[in-house]
Order: sequence, then structure tokens, then C-alpha cells
Amino acid sequence: MAYNFDAVIDRRNTNATKLQKYAGADILPFWIADMDFAVPEFILAPLRERLEHPIIGYTKKPDSLTLAFQNWLMHHYGWQVPEDWVVWLPGVVPGLNMAVNMLAPDQQLLVPTPIYYPFLDLQENTKREQLAVPLALSDGKWSMDLSAMADAVNPQTKMVCIANPQNPTGRCYSLDELGALADFIERHNLLLVSDEIHCQLILDEDKAHLPIAHAVPEIAQRTVSLFAATKTYNIPGLGCAAAVVPDPHLRKRFLATRGDLVPGPGPLNYIASEAAFNDRSDWVPQLQATLRRNRALVEAVAGHRMSKMEATYLAWIDIADLQLNDVDGHFESHGLGLSNGAPFGHEGYVRFNFASPKPVLDEGLKRLRASLQND
Ligand SMILES: Cc1ncc(COP(=O)(O)O)c(C=O)c1O
Repeated sequence: MAYNFDAVIDRRNTNATKLQKYAGADILPFWIADMDFAVPEFILAPLRERLEHPIIGYTKKPDSLTLAFQNWLMHHYGWQVPEDWVVWLPGVVPGLNMAVNMLAPDQQLLVPTPIYYPFLDLQENTKREQLAVPLALSDGKWSMDLSAMADAVNPQTKMVCIANPQNPTGRCYSLDELGALADFIERHNLLLVSDEIHCQLILDEDKAHLPIAHAVPEIAQRTVSLFAATKTYNIPGLGCAAAVVPDPHLRKRFLATRGDLVPGPGPLNYIASEAAFNDRSDWVPQLQATLRRNRALVEAVAGHRMSKMEATYLAWIDIADLQLNDVDGHFESHGLGLSNGAPFGHEGYVRFNFASPKPVLDEGLKRLRASLQND
């Protein structure tokens, strides 16, 4: 079956965060990370079916959800994960915050930057000190700077938090890179939190996502891995995430931070994610092909400014030479709503979400071209 990713769907009147920010203005939104593509019918159908029942009460997690997730890990990565390693959460970001709350108040975490901005909110949220260590940039490609990370580490540093694939730089870390990170983690006796929500959005055909706790099993016992189907299948409004925590002691510490603060996902969220994890259709490959095409279209406009991204639908674009005092205002005046790099930890960049149908993307790229020429 051929899916149509180029249909323009009117999202007005859905209170979509992406659109609301610029409601009433001629500003096309390419900022927050959701896609302008329809959720596939194999997810919508079971949701509709559930809504045939008139009561939506408190709902226990279905065992079939964990089974679907376990089968998905086995199918994609050959990773056999027992049921008791899995902790279900209403989102990846709550899981990140819970993980950092495992640290003692005087312990620190280390975060390579730029990074998805909720990572940089962890210090304020958890009151744990955070060391932000810049990724190294070489020939448009970002990588973890393990020697800068080693310089930053001190006896109070107990955890590293990464995103792989990396948002916003689009890196899909190789086995060598993950192995070197694992050595670093072991050498400094650290815990690792690996946010792998973008794992199915690998665009380079010669790359594959490697869940670090499976690819480098030596550090599995020190690792909290965070997964969700919500990014790939465009259902972030039905938050549902799985933490994989192999070590029982670490899992106990992780669960202890939950308290009554973090609820379970709701019944519709369970249903949508279960249908997503059970998907073996051609939907993801077709989505990836569309995103690959869109990436090339953005690259044709942004050129050398755009980092070499291997994964995600987010282009990280260097605008430092434009020397803008008001980054948001500049792009908005060209009719573009982009994510400013500053909250990701790097000024002089913007992030462009290209998960849009071609007619919308074409118009956005016309505006991007003008905004980069500074006319
Ligand atoms: C790296 C990364 N982690 C987490 C999230 C959000 O996860 P959730 O909605 O499950 O909290 C995003 C959304 O863009 C993301 O890019």
C-alpha cells in the first residue's frame, strides 16, 4: 500500500501547539517536533474501536502492550528484554527527569550539547548540577567529545544523559562511538540515560540504530534506555514511553523517584502505542523515504549551513554569520516559525522540522532561502 505523505491536512481548530504559536499570522510553523502527516489507519482503527465504548475509566496497562514492545525490540534489534525490565511512563521527558532524580542532591550529571532542550531543564527541575559539554563539530558532523567530557568529570559526576539518534544534530551514533562512550562510562563509574525516541527515523540507508544497552552489553546494568513509538508514528499527543532498566537495583531506584508524581499513560495512549509497536507494514520505510527526499530539499537551500544529519526530521542550520540580534523575529518576518538554537545550548543555529508535505515544505523553503540571504 502506498501512503500519501504529501496530502496537506488542515490542523487548524485542533489546538495544535505547532500552529497555535503563530495563529492568525502568515508564519509557517517548522518548529516543534511533530509531523504534518496523518497517523496511519492501523493506529486510528483500534482507537476508534475503543471509543465505541462510552466509558473511559482508569485503565490498567494491557499485558499485550509489553509483549508488543518486547517483540518490537526483538524484531528490530534482536534484543531479548524480559518483561520486568520495562517501566511504562507517560513520556520520555518524565523518564529523563525521574532518572536524574535518582542522583543524590550533591551529585552531578553531564550532558553533551546541543541537545533537545528538556535535557537542559534538568538542572532546574531536579536541582542537580549539570555539566554541559559541547559536542565536537568536524566537517558538518557532530560527535561526542570524550576528552572534553573527561576534563569536565569530577568525583561528584555520576550520570551522562544522551539522545541517540541525536536531536538536534541528527547523528546516529556508530558502534565505535557507542563503545567509546561505554568505556568512558565504565572508567568513571557513571550511570547512562539514553533517550532513543528517534530510533526509527534513520534516514541514511547505510546506518542503523543501535540501542546502546544491547550493542554494548557491558554497560546495560548502568543504563536507563528510553523508547517510545510516539515520534515515529506521529502520536505524541498520546504520550506513552518505555524505560528499559535491566539492573533490578537501579530499577528500584528509578521507580522510587516516580512517587505519585508521574501517572501511567491513559487507555487510548496504550492502544495507540501497542498498534505502533505491532506494525510490520511498509509505513515506516515509506515515511523514511519521504523524509530522505525532504532532507535533500532542505539541503539544497541550506547547503553547507546544514549539519550532516543521518537521522530525525530536524535540520540543524548554522546562522551565526547572519549576526542576528533577534533570531526569532528575523525568521518570523520571513514567514517562518523555527526553533531557536539557544535553548538547545548553542546560539547561532536554528532547527527546521521538515516533516511536512511537499507543497508546504516548498513554500517554507522559498522563505528559508530568502531569510538566509538576509533580504
Ligand atoms: C530527543 C527527544 N526526547 C524526547 C522527546 C519527547 O518525548 P515525550 O513526548 O515522550 O516526553 C522528544 C520530542 O521531540 C525528543 O526529540
